[in-house]
Amino acid sequence: MPHITYVEASGQSTTVNIPEGWSLMQGATTNGVEGILGECGGSCACATCHCYVAEDYLAKVLPASDTELAMLDNVAAERRPNSRLACQIKANTALDGLVVHLPATQE
Ligand code: FES
Repeated sequence: MPHITYVEASGQSTTVNIPEGWSLMQGATTNGVEGILGECGGSCACATCHCYVAEDYLAKVLPASDTELAMLDNVAAERRPNSRLACQIKANTALDGLVVHLPATQE
């Protein structure tokens, strides 16, 4: 299982193993990472799973869909070039070691 590290705005870092096919949002909420809310359950409709993908992994994640790009307009924290919605990124072996930083607020 790929291991993913979540770094919250406070600096708290949590590394978890996520089954392939799970979203990064599922991996966070299932493991008690508080910086991701995931209020819509992963249907790309709430923007409370905002994360910043480490630059060296950006090429390894699938590009954001038009729906995700539109939802990113609604994130509560600063939107950056590496902003993504964690529910739209599925864990796979290519993402093993990925670090995502979480914004200070999701709402
Ligand atoms: S969980 Fe709602 S947009 Fe990702």
